[in-house]
Amino acid sequence: MLSTTFLGVKLKNPVIAASGTYGYGREYESLFPLETLGGISVKGTTLMPRSGNKPPRIAETASGMLNSVGLQNPGVDAFIANELPYLKTKDIAVIANISGNSPEEFAELARKLDIDGVDILELNISCPNIREGGKSFGADPVTAAAVTRAVKAASKKPVMVKLTPNVTSISEIAKAVEAAGADALSLINTLTAMRIDIRTKRPILANNTGGLSGPAIFPVAVRMVYEASGAVKIPVCGMGGIATAEDAVEMMMAGAACVQVGAAIFRDAYAPKKIIDGLEKYCLDNGNISEIVGAVKLNERDNEW
Ligand SMILES: Cc1cc2nc3c(=O)[nH]c(=O)nc-3n(C[C@H](O)[C@H](O)[C@H](O)COP(=O)(O)O)c2cc1C
Repeated sequence: MLSTTFLGVKLKNPVIAASGTYGYGREYESLFPLETLGGISVKGTTLMPRSGNKPPRIAETASGMLNSVGLQNPGVDAFIANELPYLKTKDIAVIANISGNSPEEFAELARKLDIDGVDILELNISCPNIREGGKSFGADPVTAAAVTRAVKAASKKPVMVKLTPNVTSISEIAKAVEAAGADALSLINTLTAMRIDIRTKRPILANNTGGLSGPAIFPVAVRMVYEASGAVKIPVCGMGGIATAEDAVEMMMAGAACVQVGAAIFRDAYAPKKIIDGLEKYCLDNGNISEIVGAVKLNERDNEW
C-alpha cells in the first residue's frame, strides 16, 4: 500500500532520506537496513572535493537547527568510485544531489552521473552563482531555468530541481524550471537564518549565517509545497521539518507525491523507519498512499484580496 512510482522509478515507500543528512547510507546501516527506505538523496556532490566551511557550523534553535556545513564532499569522481558501487547493491532509489557554480558545472556533473546506479538527478540550485555575485541560482527564475536546461541537455536521467524557500514567489520559480524541462520539483531547502552569541556579540556560526531546518520550518514547507504543486503539472517531492508519519501525511495532502526526511534524523536516527511504519498503519485505515496526494480541501475564505 505504500509503494509508488516517482519519475518512472519504483519506490517501495514514499520516504527518502534528505541530502546531507544521511551521508551515503552506509553510515546508518548498523541501525536498520538502508533498503527499508524508499530512496536516498546522497550528500550534495560537486565537481571537485570540498572540505566545507569552518566550524562552528551547527547551531541549535527552538525546534530546529542551523547549519553551514558548506557542501563538504569528496567530489563526483570519488562518489562514483567509492560510494555508488555500494548503493548499487541496494534495492533503493538513488538520487544524486548535485551543486555547481555555473550551468556548465551542473551539466558536467550531470554528464558524469549519466551512469548505471543513479536513478534521479536532484539539482541543488540554492548554491551561489559566481557570475552574479553569489546570488543563488534558485532565487531567480532566469538562472534557475538556465541550470535546468543545461542539465536536461547533458543527461537522460529524470531531473528533479530542488527549490530554495528564500524567494518571494515559489510558484514563479516552480513554473520557470518546469518550462525549462524539469521532470519534478523537490522543496524546500533550508531557510537562510542567523543566531548571535550575546556574550561575544558574534554570530554562532563561523559563516555568520546558515540554513534553518527541522520542525521549525514545517508549516512554511507545507505552504510552499502546496503553492508550488498547484502551479505546475510535474510531481513534487516535499520536505522541510518532517518528523512524524502525520507530518508526512500532511505534506502529501499539500501536494507532495513523496517526501524527504532530513534534520529529524539527527534527533532520532530511527525517524525515517518510524515514519514508514506510521504510514503503513495510516494506510491500513485509509487506503493506498497515492490517494492522499494533494487531497487538501481548502476552506472558503471571507476576505479574498
Ligand atoms: C546538515 C545538513 C546538510 C545538508 N546538506 C544538503 C546538501 O548537501 N544538498 C541539499 O540539496 N540539501 C542539503 N540540506 C538540506 C536538506 O536536504 C533539506 O532540504 C532541509 O534540511 C529541509 O528538510 P529537513 O527540515 O527535514 O531537514 C542539508 C541539511 C542539513 C541539516
